[in-house]
Amino acid sequence: MIQTETLTATPQGLARAAEILQAQGLVAFPTETVYGLGGDARSDLAVARIFDAKARPRFNPLIVHVPDLDAARTFALFDARAESVAAAFWPGPLTLVLPLRADAGLSPLVTADLDSVAIRIPAHPTAQALLRAFGGPLAAPSANPSGRVSPTRAAHVLAGLSGRIAAVLDGGSCAVGVESTILGLLKQPTLLRPGGVASEALESLLGPLALGGNSAKPNAPGQLASHYAPGASVRLHAQTALPGEIHLGFGPGAYQLNLSPSGDLIEAAANLFHMLREADVMAGQGGRIAIAPIPEHGLGRAINDRLNRAAAPRI
Ligand code: TXA
Ligand code: MG
Repeated sequence: MIQTETLTATPQGLARAAEILQAQGLVAFPTETVYGLGGDARSDLAVARIFDAKARPRFNPLIVHVPDLDAARTFALFDARAESVAAAFWPGPLTLVLPLRADAGLSPLVTADLDSVAIRIPAHPTAQALLRAFGGPLAAPSANPSGRVSPTRAAHVLAGLSGRIAAVLDGGSCAVGVESTILGLLKQPTLLRPGGVASEALESLLGPLALGGNSAKPNAPGQLASHYAPGASVRLHAQTALPGEIHLGFGPGAYQLNLSPSGDLIEAAANLFHMLREADVMAGQGGRIAIAPIPEHGLGRAINDRLNRAAAPRI
């Protein structure tokens, strides 16, 4: 056990966070999607600590976070498509999988020894400030124990990882609320994970996207059947709740918790993980959560992807 420090985005807080990262420690930090568990992406020790803190079952590749395009170009090869997507969506909730540069200097644990790398420029001002204070690339999966609900507040990070990480940088709640969209640009443009950038927006730039999920891809926790799992069991497409169930809804209706009473998918995404945690507390030990249908467009695709995994049979 270590004593986890809570830091704020002051010059002192950022300097302390950078000092921890330089010493190969771990700092959880806010991005506009979810809180990430950051460690030096060039350090085998720091990256191994990330897998250990999360109790991640396998050494899956992680996303490398950088402050700007110049930094991104030192790790990945950008073709014309990658340049145009980066110009349109970065900084923001988008991750690109691109060919890894031979001279990237990243820990092979970050890329799981693949010849590609997942890279992201987050827009959150605290993430930007941390990347600049640290001065290097940060490997960062979501800052939660493996398989559980992702964190969108510093308190969520502490609930799952207190005592296992050196510090959390508190930047309030995450505006987007679901993880970044992952776009593969190794061959044809491929949607590897729906997320904070609607796939329709990417398709308007790139044309139709292929869908990920083939066996050539690495085994990713976000692609496992059971993931994002609250303690309670989850039932989907529930227009009504059964006795004893906590009803989590969307749009007008008499729900105990409502992702967006006005039916706004952006608001619903921002509320998703926090309300899953609230529903879990309300449901109690061995409880059950019933979730109303969510439209399958825009950010609804990312929401349904997470809910399908939250409802999947647990191993
Ligand atoms: O919003 C987000 O993306 C958050 C914040 C912290 O940035 N991060 C996040 O990381 O969700 P993580 O580790 O939960 O998800 C990383 C995903 C995994 O599904 C992994 O398989 C995929 O990225 N990935 C990483 N490198 C890859 C590669 N070279 N090829 C294909 N997929 C890759
Ligand atoms: Mg995750």
